Amino acid sequence: MSLTNFRTADAPAPVTFPALQEKKHTGQPITALTAYDFATARLVDEAGIDLILVGDSLAQVVLGYDSTLPVTVDEMLHHTRAVRRAVRRAIVAADMPFGSYQASEVEGVANAVRFVKEAGAQAVKIEGGASRAELVERLTAAEIPVIGHLGLTPQSVHRMGGYKVQGKSAAAIGALLHDAHTLEAAGAAMLVLEGMPREVAARITAEVGIPTIGIGAGPDCDGQILVFHDLVNLTFSTPAKFVRQYGDAAALFRNAVEGYRRDVVERTFPADEESYHLPKEAAAALKDAPVRHGA
Ligand code: KIV
Repeated sequence: MSLTNFRTADAPAPVTFPALQEKKHTGQPITALTAYDFATARLVDEAGIDLILVGDSLAQVVLGYDSTLPVTVDEMLHHTRAVRRAVRRAIVAADMPFGSYQASEVEGVANAVRFVKEAGAQAVKIEGGASRAELVERLTAAEIPVIGHLGLTPQSVHRMGGYKVQGKSAAAIGALLHDAHTLEAAGAAMLVLEGMPREVAARITAEVGIPTIGIGAGPDCDGQILVFHDLVNLTFSTPAKFVRQYGDAAALFRNAVEGYRRDVVERTFPADEESYHLPKEAAAALKDAPVRHGA
């Protein structure tokens, strides 16, 4: 029996962290996207994306909150399970939501274990720099790959005073480089670099040995990630500068829903071909049976 553990012959080879590390070393771009449900995760996986993040951005784009802060561990687990059921090839990583790892390392490890054990995540992502080093060490020791997240970290929205590009002063750049090196030394498998000048992301990418995945951090990272709903225009807001829209799901869905409504109102849906029919004899018997009005 092979060590690929019962994979059927037609199943694609799963992506692994060593494979992503190899991509960095050979200069092949790493592709990542968020997904939050079965259908979109399946499409993203079938498109050949390397890493699917069940991001806490789901608080905003799926649940309608105005920040990522309210989403809970149980809600994140629910969505991670749905994504897990869809994905055969990509790495599935779960975002640790605000409040699930800030109080203590012990609580952070316990919550991360839930994502692996109860939802099938292969990695967790946590926001923050050197202050997370001990947690990263403990998670790594617990065999849970960790993705760090530096720069514009949405869970720090109140400290940052809004969603602002980070790393613009010499001191801030120095702090980001220190954070990146500290997380790497603690065992992080990968870093998300969000909302920072291209030059700073390029410098971090050149200095660390682990892959960097950029979002609003320019093209010099080892890979890129976007929020799925940004990619397909489903956020009902003006896209950020770094977003490129590759489709218009809002227009697609709107047309479909308006068309359905029109056809129901005009009684053109469902058509006879879209209806089930009785066999001839039963239809005749039904026709002959007296109609009992108001019964
Ligand atoms: O929650 C999220 O979607 C993220 C990505 C933007 C990296 O953290």
